[in-house]
Amino acid sequence: MTIPYPNTQPVPAIAAVTPPSGASRPRVTFLGTGYLGATYAICYAELGYEVLGFDVDADKIAKLNAGEVPIHEPGLDELLRRNLAAGRLRFSTDIAETAAFGDVHFICVGTPQRADGMGADLSYVEASVTSLAQHLTRKALIVGKSTVPVGTAEWVEQLVGKHTPADLGVEVAWSPEFLQEGFAVDDVLRPNRIVVGVKSEWANGMLYAAHKGVFDLAATEDREVPLVVTDFATAELVKVAANAFLATKISFINAMAEVCEASSGDVTQLARAIGYDPRIGNRFLQAGLGFGGACLPKDIRAFQARAQELGAGEALRFLHEVDLINLRRRTRVLQLAADLLGRRSGPAGPDLSGTRIAVLGATFKPNTDDVRDAPALAVAALLHKAGADVHVYDPQGMDNARRAVPELSYEADIAEAVTGADLVCVLTEWADFRNADPGLLGDLVAGRRVVDARNCLDSALWTQAGWEYRGMGRP
Ligand code: UGA
Repeated sequence: MTIPYPNTQPVPAIAAVTPPSGASRPRVTFLGTGYLGATYAICYAELGYEVLGFDVDADKIAKLNAGEVPIHEPGLDELLRRNLAAGRLRFSTDIAETAAFGDVHFICVGTPQRADGMGADLSYVEASVTSLAQHLTRKALIVGKSTVPVGTAEWVEQLVGKHTPADLGVEVAWSPEFLQEGFAVDDVLRPNRIVVGVKSEWANGMLYAAHKGVFDLAATEDREVPLVVTDFATAELVKVAANAFLATKISFINAMAEVCEASSGDVTQLARAIGYDPRIGNRFLQAGLGFGGACLPKDIRAFQARAQELGAGEALRFLHEVDLINLRRRTRVLQLAADLLGRRSGPAGPDLSGTRIAVLGATFKPNTDDVRDAPALAVAALLHKAGADVHVYDPQGMDNARRAVPELSYEADIAEAVTGADLVCVLTEWADFRNADPGLLGDLVAGRRVVDARNCLDSALWTQAGWEYRGMGRP
């Protein structure tokens, strides 16, 4: 029997396969329950799959089993509790149990930047694949979801071959994910495409069955989810190419912001005007403090490092420029702060000693508690280093920020952060900050000066309320 593709592309039909466990739908596991794996595990249970999430971190697993999501991701708490109660979802630190349970095992561990260079650290991928493979006792499909350098899937296949008897026939596939923090639930349940890198009909059929819940949901909502079936290398490259493109788009508009700053143009109007051209589009064209997070910055570096190894380094040299434009936005905020406070810059940057600065925002973007490579927190640390007394408030990122940069002062709310401040810096565009009343805040500060590093405030409103306002790439 064959199943037709759900989209209209003229592609071959996919063979139906029976899960090795004998269950009617493949049982799925997710190894690594961070932002990626926890979200996937919970959402796949919501789609009706029997799911087991594995992690070596016993605290995280205990929390998840108790119905507590260890990260801030809108909508995830309710789905976790509902699916635990339904008995479709559980979490474990036992790799033998995980290996015995699953037909399809998704590898969702982190691939951070290596401490000694720009490349990706694959030690978590190696550890999780090795221990899983060593415990497998029947055929299964191991699917990489982590963002990796091209060539990793082939290497994972060799690792699996080394640690499983050949007669089990364990196979490998790669299926990158594109979820954005803050929208992760919808991105998993309603992805804009599914990409799979496979080598066999069986792997293709198994992976189709493991995504059928997504296609079925789309059909009930009268949508289509395009499916791209390709080879390992292309599947791996799709992910880094997508992130490199997004990073480039953001740095392009921030480069325009620099030119606007030199020529008294307004980058927000420029972005709006070019964004009306459907070939350009208006998304990811928000000039400001630039990109951060656990993905874009390290992915463009790892991509360059891998291209260099492959002898194609020149092709990605522009990504170095993308990185530099992005990092320059951080020092731009420091300059604007010094200008507003009437401080001169020396060779070591401005001296801000004796000033009190309120920093609103610590996370790398709104609607998450993630502060990994957060531009906001990096700027807060720069202001502190320049001598300012920095008081930070963030709606969700306080605990993570305090752990990452303990030398700053952390406040309980916006009012406490801005009280007595000579300058307010809005560094993450949380709705609470965008909607704050400049009149009320003006009564609390020592000086009405604001740097809007995300161009997210109504500049006219703040100026009318007596604030000296500076945006990014704006006159
Ligand atoms: C990014 C990609 O968007 C996802 O598709 C991908 O799956 C994910 O990385 C990943 O590799 O796992 P994410 O890191 O959650 O997702 O964040 P984005 O929404 O892409 O934002 C990244 C950064 O760019 C943020 O700091 C944001 O403030 C900044 N940004 C975004 C801008 O400065 N301007 C914009 O116009 C858009």
